[in-house]
Amino acid sequence: MVVLFISFLAIISSGDSARILGVIPIPSYSHQVVFQPLWRELSLRGHQVTTLTTDPINDPSLINLTEIDLGFSYDVWNEAVKSVGGIQSNILKTMRIIESGVSIARTQLRHPLVQDLLENNNITFDLVMVEYYMPSALVFAKRFNCPYIGVVSMDAHSASLKLAGNPTHPILYPNNLLSVKDSLTLFDRIKSVVFSLIFEVYINYIYYSHHQEVVETIFGNHYPPLRDIARNVSLLFINSDPIFDKVKPLVPTVIQIGGGLSRKASKPLSRKLQKILDVSSAGVVYFSLGSNVKSKDLPNDTINTVLATFAELPYTILWKFESGDLPNKSRNVYVEKWFPQLEVLKHPNIKLFITQGGLQSIEEAIYTQIPMVGMPFFGDQFYNVKKMVKMGFGLIVDHTTLKIEELNSTIMEVIQNPKYKEKLKELSELVLDQPMTGLERAVWWREYVIRHKGATHLRSPLLDIPFYQYYLLDVITVLLLLLALVVYIVKVSITVMSIPVRRFYSKVKRR
Ligand SMILES: *[C@@H]1O[C@H](CO)[C@@H](O)[C@H](O)[C@H]1NC(C)=O
Ligand SMILES: *[C@@H]1O[C@H](CO)[C@@H](O)[C@H](O)[C@H]1NC(C)=O
Ligand SMILES: *[C@@H]1O[C@H](CO)[C@@H](O)[C@H](O)[C@H]1NC(C)=O
Ligand SMILES: *[C@@H]1O[C@H](CO)[C@@H](O)[C@H](O)[C@H]1NC(C)=O
Ligand SMILES: *[C@@H]1O[C@H](CO)[C@@H](O)[C@H](O)[C@H]1NC(C)=O
Ligand SMILES: *[C@@H]1O[C@H](CO)[C@@H](O)[C@H](O)[C@H]1NC(C)=O
Repeated sequence: MVVLFISFLAIISSGDSARILGVIPIPSYSHQVVFQPLWRELSLRGHQVTTLTTDPINDPSLINLTEIDLGFSYDVWNEAVKSVGGIQSNILKTMRIIESGVSIARTQLRHPLVQDLLENNNITFDLVMVEYYMPSALVFAKRFNCPYIGVVSMDAHSASLKLAGNPTHPILYPNNLLSVKDSLTLFDRIKSVVFSLIFEVYINYIYYSHHQEVVETIFGNHYPPLRDIARNVSLLFINSDPIFDKVKPLVPTVIQIGGGLSRKASKPLSRKLQKILDVSSAGVVYFSLGSNVKSKDLPNDTINTVLATFAELPYTILWKFESGDLPNKSRNVYVEKWFPQLEVLKHPNIKLFITQGGLQSIEEAIYTQIPMVGMPFFGDQFYNVKKMVKMGFGLIVDHTTLKIEELNSTIMEVIQNPKYKEKLKELSELVLDQPMTGLERAVWWREYVIRHKGATHLRSPLLDIPFYQYYLLDVITVLLLLLALVVYIVKVSITVMSIPVRRFYSKVKRR
């Protein structure tokens, strides 16, 4: 397979088409699915696209797309999640899961498929597109000595935005992991400033240096510091849009590719599923906790509460349940390990989506106008679900204190009250009303980078000033010193001027 792949790459060198390498190393379906339409589209346009991915599209009709399967990385990820005691809402544990990116990088960069790609001097690319949250993957950009575009499958956090030259603000845009509300109290604001400082120091100095260590262990001193490569990014594609995500000032090199979803169904509905959906004219509830949270790992109490609630509902339930079988389920509940989510949501009988609140799921529900009940577990899910409740197209339940009556009444409210659906109609119209879709934007800007061999002419001034200037530390220091000087002078002159006055008074007293 390796040999085949290399000879395939060596053969291709056709005129107009570009050779593009896409590197999405993080083993999580939600990180991968965002970029699949892009690889598909670019290859259909006649570009020769090679991807390193943990979830290949495996579509043989895409003859210009070569996928190197990094699926083995899921073991490392699952191990990391297990070692912190499962997916949880605790921020420290979430950061330990982020840290597992280092072991994933170590495993991937040592893998023969990846080493062959890096070591073969016959392989060249015109553009590399690499997941910006995986610092060690930036070596691909350097190795092929061509411009590169960083990509992020969600809204980028402040540390990454700053590395790409985009100013950020901890009060206007708190980190999504914090899940503070939109109107911040003084305490929230202090929390947000302190957390963003800690988070940026962690990403910039600890996380990056761990990746640096991995790269140096494997390649020696072959590559410059990863932070320098990161700051050299031509463009950064972020999967956000100004309708669901906060309106935010972005430099021209940060491109929002979210909204106006162009995601293709990964698989059509099976005949069985199509039939279940078609005959359930009373309505269908789709329940999925996404790719990282597993329903099968929920406590038995929670599963039993959910089952008891579902048993009384007048609807059919589709439940993504990873172990395939679910004892005690009532007759209206259908269980599958995996559903073609977008196709399911598009079906006219779907009434409700019960979700963990991942960004991609919310995007798909806005697009298909399906109201939601959010059941957040970790990471940005709390933030996303609270945002959804505030915007008025769904409600939230807490899985740790779940009761049958509460779940039942929340489900019934969202299905029966038309206001959620109306809000979604309004939002999906706004999301789709753009001069070009996110996909078209991504394709256009990718060509721009190849045409101009990077985007150095758009380089942000933020990248060329030291941090103390950005935070105004020098200016504030000088102004404070000046103020102190003025206060001192005023004080001294009052003392000096008061001497004759005091003398006068003391003379008066003596008399
Ligand atoms: C593959 O690329 C060639 C040009 O390099 C293009 O003519 C052809 O349409 C592409 N085919 C598919 C199926 O993407
Ligand atoms: C690179 O190309 C040359 C000449 O086509 C060939 O002799 C050599 O074996 C190739 N190297 C690899 C690693 O494929
Ligand atoms: C940054 O980009 C420039 C121009 O493309 C290149 O010459 C330089 O080596 C790059 N530096 C790093 C650290 O990647
Ligand atoms: C949960 O239920 C399963 C059977 O479905 C059982 O094997 C398991 O031991 C139970 N776990 C707990 C913690 O009760
Ligand atoms: C099935 O339901 C019964 C009664 O509601 C309960 O006692 C039992 O623990 C459940 N079994 C499982 C595997 O959850
Ligand atoms: C669920 O809620 C509906 C409407 O609020 C109500 O009619 C029904 O009795 C409830 N079912 C249960 C089992 O509580």
